[in-house]
Amino acid sequence: MSETATLQERYARVMMRTFGTPQAVLVRGEGARVWDADGREYVDFLAGIAVNALGHAHPAFVDAVAGQAATLAHVSNYFATPAQVVLAERLVRLTGGDRVFFANSGTEAIEAGVKLARLHGAATGRARILSLSGSFHGRTMGALSITGKPALQEPFAPMLAGTAQVAPDLAAVEAELAAGDVAALFVEPIQGEAGVVDLPDGFLAGARELTARHGALLVVDEIQTGAGRTGDWFAFQRDLGHGLPDAVAMAKGMGGGFPIGALVAFGAAAELLGPGHHGSTFGGNPLAAAAANAVLGEIERAGLVENARVQGAALREAVLAIGSPLVTDVQGAGLLLGVGLARPVAARVAREALERGLIVNAAGESRIRLAPPLIIGEAELAAFVPLFTAALAAAQKDPA
Ligand SMILES: Cc1ncc(COP(=O)(O)O)c(C=O)c1O
Repeated sequence: MSETATLQERYARVMMRTFGTPQAVLVRGEGARVWDADGREYVDFLAGIAVNALGHAHPAFVDAVAGQAATLAHVSNYFATPAQVVLAERLVRLTGGDRVFFANSGTEAIEAGVKLARLHGAATGRARILSLSGSFHGRTMGALSITGKPALQEPFAPMLAGTAQVAPDLAAVEAELAAGDVAALFVEPIQGEAGVVDLPDGFLAGARELTARHGALLVVDEIQTGAGRTGDWFAFQRDLGHGLPDAVAMAKGMGGGFPIGALVAFGAAAELLGPGHHGSTFGGNPLAAAAANAVLGEIERAGLVENARVQGAALREAVLAIGSPLVTDVQGAGLLLGVGLARPVAARVAREALERGLIVNAAGESRIRLAPPLIIGEAELAAFVPLFTAALAAAQKDPA
């Protein structure tokens, strides 16, 4: 029995069944490549779902984590650390925000946003929290309650009181806001888990204008889109120009593989969470903060936001140039792209790609998500194209 098959069998015995059968057992990575337990090599165009911004085992990440672990890994939030303060200052600078709350994951960053919304609502007589149909904000009960995917919510009903989803349509949003009871609207600038789907043109800017007019907060979920992935530091900067949201949730890429999340709040919203309102044992601990500082610092130093824009445009063109009759559209921005398929064969395409040594993700029945590390260049694109072409062709010929 192969090492992979042995570990898959052991996994199946002891792990809860939340993730299904793992497609491979990975043991090592370097740059945009990973290796499995049997020594097979893969080109990684998923990066842990938009997480490994610097790729695998980047020296800046390795040195920061090892160095901080050997110095001071964790202290309670009764104390401050230089790494944490530096990271908060960096996030304030990069977003134009005012104050930061650190969490350990995306869903926790959203929970902080939900609490912010409730505090704003309590102060202004508004209780309802709106989000968009098709959206994904996380799996904890608050984040799940604002996730616009009924199939994920139904097993755990009832959802948090005073939450509702609305179509990504400005007239529909305005109709909801006009009721005068909405505390906040949560929006992903690009819907990642929906298969990397763009919002209608001008939606975020329109939502900013409407929420401001009706006294509701605009909370932007940049957990998947943030930290340079879309070719801007944050996608709201592309969509709002000089406009600002009231809060931004982030995680994934900011830690480059170290679990960390953050909620950055702007203006009056930054003053809402006060002593005793929220907390976290691990949130923003020195180890996580040092990792995030190293990752964001390297993104800045190496110009990886610009690289995401340039390589993203090249990747989009390369996918369209394959000319597969299966490909209907490419959405997203920078190095977060969703490839639409004419038939519900995304799982098949991903399987065919994996068999050929390429990791891509079926994000929905007929959408493939591409989210490679931000460090990729021509060599990685050149490796991707023939493998993805072959995977599409195999699924086209025999869709079963
Ligand atoms: C837009 C968005 N929000 C929230 C989450 C939840 O983040 P986490 O899995 O870190 O809890 C995700 C994860 O995929 C996401 O893409």
